[in-house]
Amino acid sequence: MSKKFYITTPIYYPSDNLHIGHTYCTVAVDAVKRFKKMQGYDVFMTTGTDEHGQKIEEKAKEMGMEPKEYVDGIVENIKKLWKMLDIDYDYFIRSTDKDHEKNVQNIFQKLYDKGDIYKDEYEGYYCTPCESFWTESQLGEGHTCPDCGRPTELTHEESYFFRLSKYKDKLLKLYEDHPEFIEPAFRKNEMVKNFFEGEEGLEDLSVSRSSFDWGVKVPFDEKHVVYVWIDALSCYLTAIGFGKDEKQFNDFWPANVHFVGKEIIRFHVIIWPAILMALDLPLPEKVFGHGWILFDNDKMSKSKGNVIYPEPIIKLYGIDALKYFLLREFSFGSDGSFNIEKFMQRLNSDLANDLGNLLSRTVSMISKYNDGVIEDKNVCEDFDEDLKDISVSVIDEVEKAMEHYQFSNALEAIWKLIRRSNKYVDESEPWVLAKDDDKKDRLNTVLYNLAESLRIVSVLIYPFIKETSLKLREQLGLSGEINWEDARTFGLIEDGTKVKKGEVIFPRLDIEKEIERFNEENEALLKSRLGNKEEKDDLKEEITIDDFEKLDIRVAEVLDVDNHPKADKLFILKIKVGDIERQIVSGIKDYYSKEDLVGKKVLVLMNLKPIKLRGVESNGMILAASDDEGKLTITSTLEDIKSGSKIS
Ligand code: MSP
Repeated sequence: MSKKFYITTPIYYPSDNLHIGHTYCTVAVDAVKRFKKMQGYDVFMTTGTDEHGQKIEEKAKEMGMEPKEYVDGIVENIKKLWKMLDIDYDYFIRSTDKDHEKNVQNIFQKLYDKGDIYKDEYEGYYCTPCESFWTESQLGEGHTCPDCGRPTELTHEESYFFRLSKYKDKLLKLYEDHPEFIEPAFRKNEMVKNFFEGEEGLEDLSVSRSSFDWGVKVPFDEKHVVYVWIDALSCYLTAIGFGKDEKQFNDFWPANVHFVGKEIIRFHVIIWPAILMALDLPLPEKVFGHGWILFDNDKMSKSKGNVIYPEPIIKLYGIDALKYFLLREFSFGSDGSFNIEKFMQRLNSDLANDLGNLLSRTVSMISKYNDGVIEDKNVCEDFDEDLKDISVSVIDEVEKAMEHYQFSNALEAIWKLIRRSNKYVDESEPWVLAKDDDKKDRLNTVLYNLAESLRIVSVLIYPFIKETSLKLREQLGLSGEINWEDARTFGLIEDGTKVKKGEVIFPRLDIEKEIERFNEENEALLKSRLGNKEEKDDLKEEITIDDFEKLDIRVAEVLDVDNHPKADKLFILKIKVGDIERQIVSGIKDYYSKEDLVGKKVLVLMNLKPIKLRGVESNGMILAASDDEGKLTITSTLEDIKSGSKIS
């Protein structure tokens, strides 16, 4: 029986805006699947969509659709994209699948029965786009979400909690006993420092919401829906048959590796193992947190207009150009910056010059000098040995690199062979040998060696750039199955094999011209996506003048400013509004000094329900403007006006 291997991509939020950053992880997982399969594993690969939550509910409402109807269309497009990229997944899980919803309810019930879920009141800062709750100390400047930088909302509501704190010691022991569980290793320290240490330590987790409906209902309390992470993470179980196909589930669980982006690693290495521990299920062997692909060192965002989409790259240069670049250019655990010029340079140097050239030279010479027939005449020179040694040793290097999912190192090792082969052409000078009839056997030996090294290359690149591997094999006249182990032996092409000269596999690009062509395509797509419904989500729902009348906004004078005793980012302000004095706690300390504020007139929302912020009462809200580049400025009036004046 073959060994099983289970690998997953993250379960994506349904979006019409998947960019090359999103494709990164899926392309990598797909490469691992093919690699492991070639090594003889029975591999199962899961991907899918994480479809519940407030954001989807709101968007569907805006579009006048049912949430399910709204996501159906998007999910179809995501599947089309994976098809376009030839992603060989085994199961596409949708969190709205009925069998999954049943599993989520059973899991919730089981955790509740065990006493690991209890009811309480939740107070926290909620980021709607990220569907994440944050405690105050985790927030960014101006109460912004530490992940996406957008404003959060303070929320109070009845919620069920998962007793995450109970698993603290077990989790720390897991990291200690299994250092391989979190990769790259430096991410472990980040996790422990940010979520286990400090004032709050590891807190219990809110796992239900009652303020919206679009989710799996809590089985024993219909008012609540299960909060996204239990729902999303357990997709990994449903996909392989949890609750339905016990045999398949037992064959493939625990997962060998979950690939995820660095911002969601905490959910996978803290919450996920704790849930599995509570369910008495074995833990995944590894969570690999890859870095982000930035655009010229900046976060890609549709509103900044700096998004690079996979479709134009695929259309103009093919899927392998994209896959090769993503896997070769960036070191998998770290952030990397995409730049279209860099992409084209790599395409020209590695794919057109190194690989494309080697193939076309080899096949052309075999066609020209020996009627297209590959024949080994065994007339060797000393330097042939070097080529042969490198050819058969690259496989070990690729395997070693892939043990730690270092795609870039694996490809670099293969390219060492490609470059060595090109050098071999220059050393052996087949065009000189061709002029001398006595050298015919040596010439054929040289050409055979080149065809052989290309055959080995075709095996090794198969998991990463399959289409190119197949093109190589077609031009070399190779048929039949590709076996990984065949890359360990030099001399497997049978004498008499006939090459088939084909098209240039990667034409050299005129970079300046191509950048223009690419930008046109990419920008057209960006424009069409900006024009569609998604971008409008920044604007809030329409209100009437009566709704506005409910807001009591006044001009206030700042009398005094104090530091908050427990929070670095908060000021406690004393303000005067006409004859009324008030205390307001505000997260503006990073932007203003006390001197900047005392004596100034500011705008204040007076009738906001009082709350306590880290133990200090706040009675109203100072109004400020913030942009997506982290700037914040307090609002005031154009001319001076007496404090207490109403804004209408
Ligand atoms: N739904 C959650 C995942 C739940 S897993 C049980 C989610 N979805 S997502 O659609 O927002 O993100 C999917 C993946 O895309 C994440 O791993 C995220 O890190 C990745 N990326 C999004 N932008 C990225 C880059 N610019 N670069 C690399 N990966 C990035 O999170």
